[in-house]
This record gives sequence, C-alpha cells and structure tokens, in this order.
Amino acid sequence: MFQPAQRMQFFQEHYFASLGARLAALRSQGGDIIRLDEGAPDLPPAPHIIETLTRAAGRPDAHSYQPQRGFAELRQAWAEMYRRAYGLMVDPELEVLPLLGSKEGIAHLPLAAVDPGQVVLAPDPGYVTYSRGAYLAGGEIHYFPLNPERDYLPDLQAIPPGILQRARLLWLNYPNNPTAATASLDFFSEAVDFARQNRLILCHDAAYTQVCFDGYRAPSLLEVPGAKEVCVEFNTLSKSHNMAGWRVAAAIGNPALIRSLHSLKTNLDSGHFRPVLEAAAAAMTGDQAWLQERNEIYRQRRDVVVQALQQLEIKTSVPKASLYVWFRVPPGHTGDDFAAALLERAHVSLTPGSVFGSGGEGFIRLSLTAPVEKVEEAMRRLGKFVKENT
Ligand SMILES: Cc1ncc(COP(=O)(O)O)c(C=O)c1O
Repeated sequence: MFQPAQRMQFFQEHYFASLGARLAALRSQGGDIIRLDEGAPDLPPAPHIIETLTRAAGRPDAHSYQPQRGFAELRQAWAEMYRRAYGLMVDPELEVLPLLGSKEGIAHLPLAAVDPGQVVLAPDPGYVTYSRGAYLAGGEIHYFPLNPERDYLPDLQAIPPGILQRARLLWLNYPNNPTAATASLDFFSEAVDFARQNRLILCHDAAYTQVCFDGYRAPSLLEVPGAKEVCVEFNTLSKSHNMAGWRVAAAIGNPALIRSLHSLKTNLDSGHFRPVLEAAAAAMTGDQAWLQERNEIYRQRRDVVVQALQQLEIKTSVPKASLYVWFRVPPGHTGDDFAAALLERAHVSLTPGSVFGSGGEGFIRLSLTAPVEKVEEAMRRLGKFVKENT
C-alpha cells in the first residue's frame, strides 16, 4: 500500500482542485454556475502577442530546449518593462531570471535560500505558496497578521525577536491577494530597512502591480533606493498581460539571489518553449495602451460589485488595484458556510477567506474575472441569497 511521504501533510490538494469536482457535479445537474473564485483573467492577450507566438511556432528552429535564463532579448524586455512601468534600471544579465510562472519561483526560492529550521515570514491571510515553498525547503513558517484595522499592512516590529533571530526570508505582496490592499513606497522603504536590520531576504510578490484603477500606480518594491541589496521581486505576465496559462514570469533583484535561484533551476527544469518567450518579449516591449483599456473593464466590474455590496450593507472597501474585492460575510455566517451555501443555492462561486489562512476567516474573496453582465447577475443572485439567509 502506497504511503505518502510525511511532508505531504503540508501539501493537501488545493481548494481550487477540489472545487473543480464540485462545480462539475453541479453543472451536470444543469446548474448555471458563475465563477468569481479564481484569479485567472478571462480576457485574452492583445492580438500582436498571439501573432508573435504563432509566427514563431511556425519556424523549424523554435522547438528545442531553451536555456533557463531565456535569451538576451527576453531579459532585456523585462528590464524595459521595469524602466517603463517603474522608472527603474535593472541589469538584464545579472538581475533578471525568467521563471515558469511566478508560482514556480516563489515555491523554489526557499530551496535556494533557506536552510532546514530557518524561519520564513509570511502574511496571513496570504498567497499559500509562500508557506509551501518554506515547507519544501524544511523551513518553518511564521505568519504575521494582516488586518483591516491596519489597512492590511503588517506591523513588522511586532514579530517576536526569538522568531526574527531564526528568520531568513520575509514575504510581502502588494497589491495584495486576497485583500486587494495596496502599499505605499514609504511602507516599502520601512520594510527594506527592517530587512536590512534583521538580515532578512525581502521577497516582494508583484503579481498585480499593473492591474490598477482610478489613476492609481502601484510601486515596485525595487523603487526603494538600495532595495536590490536585500530584495528580490517576483513579477508575472499572468495578470498584467492576461497570460496566466503561458507561465511567463521573472525574479528581479539581488544578483547573488538570482544566481543562486538560477543554479537551482538548472537542476530542476529545462526552460520555456521559445515561441512563448518571443511573444512574452513582444508583450513587454510592444504597445501597452491596451492594458489601460483592460483595467477600465475591471474597474467597471469592480464598481458593480462594490455598489451591490454597499446596498446590502456588507462591509468592504473600494480596491484601487488587483483582481479582487474582499468583504466581510454578513453576521451569522462563517466565510466557509457562506461560500458553500451561495454555491449550492445561488450557483455563484466565490472563495472563502479561510483558503488564504486563518486570518481570512469571516471574509470572502470575489474575483473580477467574468464579463460585466455575469458579474451583475452574480450580484443579483448574491443579493437575493443574503436577503433570504440573514
Ligand atoms: C499573489 C500571487 N502571486 C503569485 C501568483 C502566481 O502567478 P503565476 O501565474 O505567475 O504563477 C498568483 C496567482 O494567482 C498570486 O495571486
């Protein structure tokens, strides 16, 4: 009889994997399910990106293994994106490492940077892969709370000194998943100082920095002067350029860390499919005006959701960025039972906050990843459900 390894206690099937089976069962009974659960963009990338992919795929020389670091033009394209989006100079040769999606790099970085018994500091609620990477490396995880009273910014000084002594790596993520909170450059600056004082590697997950509304611009943590001495930032085209299935991302920052992660990856994977990378370079260097138009579509959906929640007197704030609206469940519910009952009775799928850690209990994450008519219909169903069940 097969016995899984002990470490599998940390690697239970992810919520979205088991949700798939439940959704299939409901659909087989004729349920018209509206999914606002996953953070997967529903819109396609711009046509010039797809054209570059198909053209490259037609070339006979495009099908072999590629180096893990991609080719020079790709790394230069990441540097170009950082220059344009954040006014930053990054060295494409020493400070950029392409990844097979940022999840891959986030999961693997601790293998390159954390020794068994060392502590990884991660937000609660937060993206679950921060802890999974720590467990893979035999590290320990210490969660620090994000709560609405502090606008979901952590109180880093409250991390116990005994934990800090053993800590190696600190994760931040703004615009934030799941809370949609944003952070200022001043906060990032404090975090860089904190990392320096405590000899921590500061990792910033910048997945949502280019999904912003109402004229807001989300900073890169690397905009803090001197940040590259202690930081690495994970960036991805999944959300910024509607390319979640393409698995194109990069680690950008401290050259020694980049070298180490690269070395590890040469043992683990064999790079990307070249046409994907050529199209990714086109995505980052070509016309960016379409991103504004795409963000405006998310903004409209956001307004529909926020307005509907306000009418129901459900507490939420108006997100300036990310793909999410985060709200407290009405009194008398837990987040888990609210999401489960809403799915069963109203056929609307949202994500209970507990999926992101115990700090998410009592909250729901709604993804703005369906056409506005679907979002309107979902909010009508949610309104009816709330009136009937509270
Ligand atoms: C905060 C955060 N980081 C990283 C990722 C992973 O993105 P990628 O598609 O680049 O692996 C996600 C995906 O949902 C995310 O929400």
